[in-house]
Amino acid sequence: MRRFLVASLLLVITFGVKAAELDLIPLPVEIEQPPGQFALDTQTVIIVDGPFTNEASLLAGELQLASGNSADKNRILLTTRGADQLGDEAYRLEVNQQGVTIHALSPAGAFYGCQTLRQLIEPGTRKIPFVKIADAPRYAWRGLMLDVSRHFFDEPAIRQMIDWMADYKLNRLHLHLTDDQAWRLQIARYPKLTQAGARGDYSDTNAPPRFFTRAQMQAIIAYAARRHIVVVPEIDMPGHAGAATRALPQLDGGMNTFNPARAETYDFLQNVVLETMEIFPSPWIHLGGDEVDLTSWNQSAEVARKLQASGMKDTQQLEGGFVNRMAGFIREHGRTPAGWDEIVATKPEADTVIFWWRHNKPEMLIRALADGHPVVLTPRSPCYFDYPQDRSYPEIGWKLFNTPEAVYRGPALPPGIPPAQLKQILGVEGCVWTERIATVPYLEFMIMPRMAALAEMAWTPGERRDFAQFSTRLKPFQDQCQQLGIGYYDETNPVGSLRKARQLPAVVPKLSLSQY
Ligand code: ACM
Repeated sequence: MRRFLVASLLLVITFGVKAAELDLIPLPVEIEQPPGQFALDTQTVIIVDGPFTNEASLLAGELQLASGNSADKNRILLTTRGADQLGDEAYRLEVNQQGVTIHALSPAGAFYGCQTLRQLIEPGTRKIPFVKIADAPRYAWRGLMLDVSRHFFDEPAIRQMIDWMADYKLNRLHLHLTDDQAWRLQIARYPKLTQAGARGDYSDTNAPPRFFTRAQMQAIIAYAARRHIVVVPEIDMPGHAGAATRALPQLDGGMNTFNPARAETYDFLQNVVLETMEIFPSPWIHLGGDEVDLTSWNQSAEVARKLQASGMKDTQQLEGGFVNRMAGFIREHGRTPAGWDEIVATKPEADTVIFWWRHNKPEMLIRALADGHPVVLTPRSPCYFDYPQDRSYPEIGWKLFNTPEAVYRGPALPPGIPPAQLKQILGVEGCVWTERIATVPYLEFMIMPRMAALAEMAWTPGERRDFAQFSTRLKPFQDQCQQLGIGYYDETNPVGSLRKARQLPAVVPKLSLSQY
């Protein structure tokens, strides 16, 4: 915990080592740099003129400044004045002789203005170059998904992740909470889910139970919300259900699925979703829906009777009925259902958000858009951060690799999508599956700097993006990670940086990385 706090503080203070060159990530839409500098000192006050108390108090805490009521100079002013035309997450930032003014209409816009300001402050001197910045994001959904089932990452690790996301203006943390290896969310009504279902992980099926209590999860959600990050829960169904069915065998449909023929399966999942909605204010509830193995459903007499009784033609139709029933339940309770792209085949209602992950199935994206769905782009290439960063890392698995540059370029869309449908794309998400990621330093190594590349791809318009130039802006950040012992992939030294990440402390189990 202490290491995280120190790391986070130092990053705040030292971000922008070469502030004169404006090492801002993500790169703002418009920057003007008149000559001159303003310096923060102990007298500088933060003034709020708008609904920005939370943003001002975060900034005051980080910069160790007091708030004030009025000041013509030596102040940081957060104001709605002059912000009438600004969109939901947009801001304008001006630094001149009087100090700093951040104009925004919404608290999110003010927060992003503060994040840019933090990156502009030169450490030590606390000088800030005169600038005029006008900025707004390319995409509304700028996400990171973390799989906490295969290996558990605890509350301090998640908070650290949230801090980094906030630095880069990412705004959705999607938690993959349940899978075959473990169930990681306390559900009060079903204590066995965490007594038994949270036992084990991908490396060790007998590892002691680890999960988020309701209170821990609520604390994470509140911490993220202050930083304008929505925590989106995923409860995977009807497949990837092995931990739940181990804990509650009466729900077992075989092959790590829930049993689709039993009423109690739906009662159980509805109760779980209700409790999940109590814990998570997220407008979206992700119900997974991916990779359902129908082998045991196809062989089950109980399932055959269910098909016959309901007039369904096959288990695929049953799978669709399962997903749509649960999506309907989520919708009836005022939330929007979301799922992986397999569920497009089940013809869900058009409001259902589709996460397009199978880059080799562009037809799923095409169909999702044609059917009117909002879509989050998460194609394995280049959005899966469990794939290695480097072609020289053959043993890290999955055969494909995603370089920071590929992430920066962003997903390739199939040609011919009508421009009106492109507007249904909410944004992008980097997915950190953790079968092969078991420790925090290795997790850091897998996300740094791809998370920064993702953030700029998600925020900055295409015509402003240039990977070589981005790489130079990344340098101070990389130096900091290296000084602080934060795992970091260095493309100029792939073998050395992997070796270093492995030495940080524990090594990823199940991998033979002896050549490094
Ligand atoms: C997935 O990778 N199964 C969504």
